[in-house]
Amino acid sequence: MVSTDHNDQPDSANPATDLATEKRDIQGVTGTLTSRSIRSFVIRNGRLTSAQQSALDNLLPKFGIPFSEATLDLASVFNRSAPTWVEIGFGNGDALLHMAKQHPEVNVIGIEVHAPGVGQALLGIHAEALSNLRIIQHDAMEVLQHMFAEQSLDRVLLFFPDPWHKKRHHKRRIVQDEFLQAVSSRLKSGGLLHCATDVADYAQWMLEHLDNAKQLRNESPSQDFVAQPEWRINTRFERRGQRLGHDVFDLLYRRT
Ligand SMILES: C[S@@+](CC[C@H](N)C(=O)[O-])C[C@H]1O[C@@H](n2cnc3c(N)ncnc32)[C@H](O)[C@@H]1O
Repeated sequence: MVSTDHNDQPDSANPATDLATEKRDIQGVTGTLTSRSIRSFVIRNGRLTSAQQSALDNLLPKFGIPFSEATLDLASVFNRSAPTWVEIGFGNGDALLHMAKQHPEVNVIGIEVHAPGVGQALLGIHAEALSNLRIIQHDAMEVLQHMFAEQSLDRVLLFFPDPWHKKRHHKRRIVQDEFLQAVSSRLKSGGLLHCATDVADYAQWMLEHLDNAKQLRNESPSQDFVAQPEWRINTRFERRGQRLGHDVFDLLYRRT
């Protein structure tokens, strides 16, 4: 049983503890994580309901795509050719399920390492009988690098990623040059990267890193943030931020 929580992060000043934690719990992630590197998540023991456990046992084989170092054939995964959207770190799947329901013409893939969230999203796929949604339970960075061909994705969505508040943890933020390079190379020309955060400091960090990414162009007329696009509904972490009085920032960039 595993969970992650961005308000309850370990202190990387003690890497031995982090490594031990990751080694103990990493079985929850499909496939083997290829090598120890700085990761944007730490998996820790957490509560998994019996329904979520049953979804992992019975629905993941049906709606999950196992991690592999081989490139995915998207048309055969979905039995059709259609635009493909990928949400990274979908949490319990609020936005993921909404996008798949609202856009049946699109193939949607969600990537998440948090087992209770994966179980919850699987329950939603089953309950709504969604045929256009699949889940990969693995590190998104490795999935991007191995499983998606260059210029194969129409949209990449990253909603409320872990902010890693402390300066010494900033290297764990998922938005880094290497991550943006992987995303932009997998996006089709004209494809979109949409990020959202309720942490002002992370919004600025995103803006700077995204502006530095050569193949990405800001879609905001004011060259900063955009109004919330219709395909993003409010998520669990967003609601938590709003309860704390946080502003929300949406960033929308197009692959040139
Ligand atoms: C703060 S939560 C936000 C969840 C959801 N997007 C929301 O808005 O409610 C960030 C999520 O990203 C996931 N995550 C972080 N790094 C990841 C990675 N490299 N690959 C897959 N999931 C990741 C975490 O497990 C966590 O569930």
